[in-house]
Amino acid sequence: MEYRTFNKTGEKISLFGFGTMRMPVHEDGSLNHEESVRMIRHAIDNGCNYVDTAYMYHKGESEVAVGEALKGPYRDKVFLADKMPVWLAKDEEQMKKIFFEQLGRLKTDHIDFYLVHNITVPIWARAKRFNLMDFLLKQQKEGRIKHIGFSFHDEVDFFCQVLEEFPWDFCQIQFNYMDTHFQAGLKGLMKAASINIPVIVMEPLKGGKLADKVPTGIMKKFEESEVKRTPASWALRWVANFPEVLTILNGVHSFNQLEENLATLSDARENALTEEEKNLITDVANKYRKMEVYPCTGCKYCLPCTVKLDIPTIIDLYNQYHLYEKSEKIQADYNQWFGEKRRASMCTACGQCEEQCPQHLPIIEIMKKASEVFDK
Ligand SMILES: NC(=O)c1ccc[n+]([C@@H]2O[C@H](COP(=O)([O-])OP(=O)(O)OC[C@H]3O[C@@H](n4cnc5c(N)ncnc54)[C@H](OP(=O)(O)O)[C@@H]3O)[C@@H](O)[C@H]2O)c1
Repeated sequence: MEYRTFNKTGEKISLFGFGTMRMPVHEDGSLNHEESVRMIRHAIDNGCNYVDTAYMYHKGESEVAVGEALKGPYRDKVFLADKMPVWLAKDEEQMKKIFFEQLGRLKTDHIDFYLVHNITVPIWARAKRFNLMDFLLKQQKEGRIKHIGFSFHDEVDFFCQVLEEFPWDFCQIQFNYMDTHFQAGLKGLMKAASINIPVIVMEPLKGGKLADKVPTGIMKKFEESEVKRTPASWALRWVANFPEVLTILNGVHSFNQLEENLATLSDARENALTEEEKNLITDVANKYRKMEVYPCTGCKYCLPCTVKLDIPTIIDLYNQYHLYEKSEKIQADYNQWFGEKRRASMCTACGQCEEQCPQHLPIIEIMKKASEVFDK
């Protein structure tokens, strides 16, 4: 296993981090505890020493399974990460209750890496309103939290602002070869590194889209390479190549995926990819981008929409739906992100967005098509 140094303490953290958001489930969708515990322990037995969970993963069952897996000698072998879902707390008191509930579910007296979960503009404002950082600092002082960080899902400029607003020990961003200019992206990674804030990477396979059901044209590019690797291995190695990355969280739902990713991240090293290999990934990323149906650059000139639609994201999901051969994952993302009032079908065809779009995209037509696909 490759290990990287956590600058605050000098401790070594495995490049394979276990992300517990996508563990195996039964047919009815409930978590398969037995298999999940077996997988977490297998990862630890094979060198993984970082396990990431969250209050809402698997409807709370992820924390319970992690607690079960870390019983006995396993707890001291890992750095345990968990997160505060500020948006689920109706007030400060409830937020505090969630924290102690987490310790109970995890059957531990401390959490090593504790994150403000999923920071966006409104969530950060809510965290401040609930005095979350004071609460976390108190828990740190009393030994229930070792290190304080945040996970992030908003624009890069806001990411840079959040980095400066608290003496963070670490942060967590979505990063993969398709998301270099999405959310924090490459610029965010470099900014955090420049001020010595270690970066943990989530969604290295774009939630699996870069690993399973790879479009045929893309697969051909990989097959042309002299070096033979699976798409998942290419994508993980691309992230591992950045020395700025402390650990990579792997969501795995089967033993096969676990074994493959453990092997990849035992072998991957920083700055190990050759120019040829990096060029291959750039080619693949460009090919993916060319396959997009509508070349939206995400500039957001179309916003604000008069009925508050998140136009760039709807276009992105519509593109992805075609790119990934009508993947159910995209429909699930759409359902998760857009409530009743923010769906493409709410477009009133006022046309204000089209006047502003530098790419001259037919946004009204796209909203109609997206609605036909997603709002059935
Ligand atoms: N803090 C936050 O806001 C936040 C947000 C997202 C994630 N996270 C954390 O980050 C972790 C990683 O994110 P992620 O789960 O989205 O990671 P990911 O690696 O981008 O996607 C995981 C999915 O990739 C597929 N996969 C994994 N290994 C594979 C392999 N070797 N071959 C083929 N397919 C493979 C599986 O998809 P299938 O299930 O379709 O097979 C798996 O469910 C999460 O588990 C969670 O702990 C945190």
